Amino acid sequence: MRYLDDVASAKPISRIGLGTWQFGSREWGYGDDYSAEAGRIVARAVELGITLIDTAEAYGFGASERIVGDALREHGLRDHVYVATKIFPILPIAPVVVNRGRASADRLGVEQIDLYQVHQPNPVIKDAQTMPGMRQLQDAGVVADVGVSNYSLARWKEAERQLGGPVLSNQVEFSLARIDPLDELVPYASSQGRVVIAWSPLGQGFLSGRYDADNRPSNGVRNMNPLFLPEAFESGRGLLDALREVAGNHGVSMSQTALAWLLHQPHVVAIPGASSVEQLEKNVAAAEIDLGEDEVAELTAQARRFHRPARSEALKASVRRRLSR
Ligand SMILES: NC(=O)c1ccc[n+]([C@@H]2O[C@H](COP(=O)([O-])OP(=O)(O)OC[C@H]3O[C@@H](n4cnc5c(N)ncnc54)[C@H](OP(=O)(O)O)[C@@H]3O)[C@@H](O)[C@H]2O)c1
Repeated sequence: MRYLDDVASAKPISRIGLGTWQFGSREWGYGDDYSAEAGRIVARAVELGITLIDTAEAYGFGASERIVGDALREHGLRDHVYVATKIFPILPIAPVVVNRGRASADRLGVEQIDLYQVHQPNPVIKDAQTMPGMRQLQDAGVVADVGVSNYSLARWKEAERQLGGPVLSNQVEFSLARIDPLDELVPYASSQGRVVIAWSPLGQGFLSGRYDADNRPSNGVRNMNPLFLPEAFESGRGLLDALREVAGNHGVSMSQTALAWLLHQPHVVAIPGASSVEQLEKNVAAAEIDLGEDEVAELTAQARRFHRPARSEALKASVRRRLSR
């Protein structure tokens, strides 16, 4: 495993982390047996050197935090892990932030949350009201590092002003299927010692090569993801072909190559979710792949050519599928 080496985080952060939205979340459709697999995924992740485990109070309405906490306790892993969770920002004013932070720590069974993130920018309540709550949690020792998620660069900087200290990370959608963070967020992170945490680094499986227009994943989450519309596979043909070719050069999978491309970017960590221990192991192994500059350039060029359909198109397609049943 590789770790970020020039970031002032409370503990080392592994460049491949573990995303846990899938844990306890029915919308992923992994069934009841998955809770036991989830515990095994956490234990194996830590055994393989992952420190960053990302969850959120919104995932399964607290179930994901509980599953992560139970696994850490059962296997005695707390000290080895950099636990990140998020507040879902409904009314994120300071006293609410403090209460919800303490509730997340309880569900995780930890005295201190290593990274506490604001899940989404609230359009009405400004960071001037949210960040003092984060500061109180830091002063009380309930939170070590503060982060945000889905923030623009301007709002990230404003959050830092309101916290009066570094907002260590911004967790955003970032993959070969969504490369916008390359333009502003990655340069800011790498020049300021901050971190971009890439969510959906595999495009929820779009970049794995496992799916196509005739073989779509069917579950609530991915039914709403425009990456699984036929026009996305059509527009993404060049990108997926390039990914397949580079993967072939290295004798690894397309998913691993997609993760290696992200890790080529400075101050970026990826937090893929996994439906099995086997997937987790493959994702961890991606940290060891070194892509050539020409391979990175070709993948980036193909990614810039990819046209991703609008989310509203996925919604319309989902409604059409329901009506035709
Ligand atoms: N901050 C936010 O707003 C936000 C939003 C979304 C996600 N997140 C976080 O980011 C994490 C990751 O995002 P995500 O789960 O949406 O998408 P993702 O990591 O891109 O995709 C995860 C899915 O890809 C497939 N997969 C994983 N490893 C694979 C491998 N080695 N080979 C082939 N397929 C593989 C699995 O699905 P199948 O096996 O079923 O194909 C898995 O469930 C989440 O768990 C969550 O912690 C944050």
